[in-house]
Amino acid sequence: MGDSLRVLQVTDTHLFPTMDGTLLGINTFESLRAVLDQAFLQDYPDVLIGSGDIAQFAEPATYRLFLNLVREYFVGPILCVPGNHDIGATFRQELPTASIDLNGWRIAGIDTHVDDEVGGRVDASRVGELMNEIGKHPGPVLVVGHHAPIEIGTAWLDVHCVEGGEELVGVLVNDVRTRAYIFGHIHQEFDRTLGETRFLATPSTCFQFGSDPKRFSVETTSPGFRWLTLGSKGSVETKVGRADRFEMSLNLKDTKH
Ligand SMILES: [Fe+2]
Repeated sequence: MGDSLRVLQVTDTHLFPTMDGTLLGINTFESLRAVLDQAFLQDYPDVLIGSGDIAQFAEPATYRLFLNLVREYFVGPILCVPGNHDIGATFRQELPTASIDLNGWRIAGIDTHVDDEVGGRVDASRVGELMNEIGKHPGPVLVVGHHAPIEIGTAWLDVHCVEGGEELVGVLVNDVRTRAYIFGHIHQEFDRTLGETRFLATPSTCFQFGSDPKRFSVETTSPGFRWLTLGSKGSVETKVGRADRFEMSLNLKDTKH
């Protein structure tokens, strides 16, 4: 393991209760498998993160499908946070959501979702829980959520920006222990630094949203994932990878996102 921690983030897997579900023409189970094939060809992580929208149809079988597939590749610690397509109670029952302490780092999730709502929200108690998580830990912290707490510059996605996010961003930026906040939801790569805190979004393991800032669109960029290397002194190095060999054949009439 060495001194640094290798973290693999997968996000927005949008799985169905069975292996044959498709979304916009993509078999999301197979695209996740292609991502895991590619990622584990490159390296073996110390921690694996699933940052929400694990399910397109949130049933226990969907989450078991996710965990069983991931466990074919990885035996170490996993942390998942729910997204807008997930159902909180089922999610918490089926998937690991507890913080992870490893090599001096704490990796803590914050639940930004509200059942049956697309946009994110955090109330004072959730921010308080996070402050507690950070406060109890002397070393650097990586925070994981589903939604963006800051605007990303894409109008139709920025309406989903976390309600109550100012307090969350305040904690993330002002507490020197918080080194990065990693998230999903926007189905594209994003990297901005506020203060000394990195805000990083990762492409989905299925389809990506297009670059038109005004309206919903999708593009044929390959399914993605993110590697993070967390240094013992709090440094964060990161790189997005793609499952380039997965064939993207989009069908926009298939199941609405
Ligand atoms: Fe998503």
